[in-house]
Amino acid sequence: MVTAVPHHPSHLAQVFAQYPLEVVRAQGCWLEGRDGQRVLDFYGGHAVAALGYGHPRWIEALERQARSVLFQTNAIPMAVRERAAERLVAFAGLGLDQVFFVNSGAEANENALRTAFRLTGRRQAIALEHGWHGRTAAAGAITFGARDKWYGFPQTPFDVQWISRTDPAAALAITRDTACVMVEPVQGLAGAFEVPVDVLRALRARCDEVGALLIFDEVQCGVGRTGYPFGANRVGVTPDLLTTAKALGAGFPVSALLMSPQVAGALKIEDMGTTFGGGPLACAIVETVIDIIESEGLLENVNAMSSLIQNTCVGGVVSGVQGAGLLLGLKTTRPAKAIQKELLARGVFAGTAADPHILRLLPPFTLTAEHVGLLAQALQELAP
Ligand SMILES: Cc1ncc(COP(=O)(O)O)c(C=O)c1O
Repeated sequence: MVTAVPHHPSHLAQVFAQYPLEVVRAQGCWLEGRDGQRVLDFYGGHAVAALGYGHPRWIEALERQARSVLFQTNAIPMAVRERAAERLVAFAGLGLDQVFFVNSGAEANENALRTAFRLTGRRQAIALEHGWHGRTAAAGAITFGARDKWYGFPQTPFDVQWISRTDPAAALAITRDTACVMVEPVQGLAGAFEVPVDVLRALRARCDEVGALLIFDEVQCGVGRTGYPFGANRVGVTPDLLTTAKALGAGFPVSALLMSPQVAGALKIEDMGTTFGGGPLACAIVETVIDIIESEGLLENVNAMSSLIQNTCVGGVVSGVQGAGLLLGLKTTRPAKAIQKELLARGVFAGTAADPHILRLLPPFTLTAEHVGLLAQALQELAP
């Protein structure tokens, strides 16, 4: 049984609904609650814990860098920062060969959007329906539905038009007034929804026609999560700018903006800035995370475990699967929130999504067949 430990009174702002599970330890793909109960983690801390918990090389890299130089800003050249950028560019293999490191997904998106507006001198952005891009002024402005729910600023910094995520013809909405189009190749919060390849190709082609910049938000779907380095590799469409975070640090806060040579070539000193971004601890982690993904064959494992989930978890309460790699949405016959609760009571923690009939799986890339078996078994126990 999973129990919560209430803290009364709490001094934390009450802005997050709380799951009934206080985690005190975690190892591999397992979380341990206060009462010693073990919970299998198919949620991965919001897609962050890509290497699971306690990976010895992750810990060793952090400790080694902390003992060496724990912080210097971007104004001080550091080999570890150069190495992290070089490694990330090579891992992506997209020709986006300049990197700016920041701290969170929203901050990377904020910088990408600002860069697009500055370079084009235009006033409008286009985004896809159901897309999610973060909670800052610009990232929130371009997040579907945010203005009705939580945006809060009296006005948005630019005009946004949302277009269909399934119709390639919607790309015609991109005009010479459009600075940029921001899109998640696999929409995360929406419920692991794969934007069709023909839509992504149409967006690329239309951006080229009218001189708008294509931005891929790969904060959630990037760095191996789809079984490819990035969603862009998976579909063979290269954006002008790409943002990524979450799995990039696998638990250490770090995000990155990757840019084409054309975009980067138009930037000058002071066009971007940050205090913490590109710090040596974050960069040592980026280098190590990519090294672990490559040397431990984790892209292959993501693909293998994805197939296994798709082959063994459909039936009963699950009517189908959408998504890619280990960013999967199980389509549920009953509201996903109820199923999430029932799974948690059986020791399996999965996520939900904006779509109330999607159970979202974002487990570590180190997931094993045994873990998938436990998920399949727990799902089978539920009333359809
Ligand atoms: C696709 C996508 N973009 C941006 C963000 C915002 O990232 P952060 O919470 O690190 O600011 C998220 C967070 O869930 C996301 O999933």
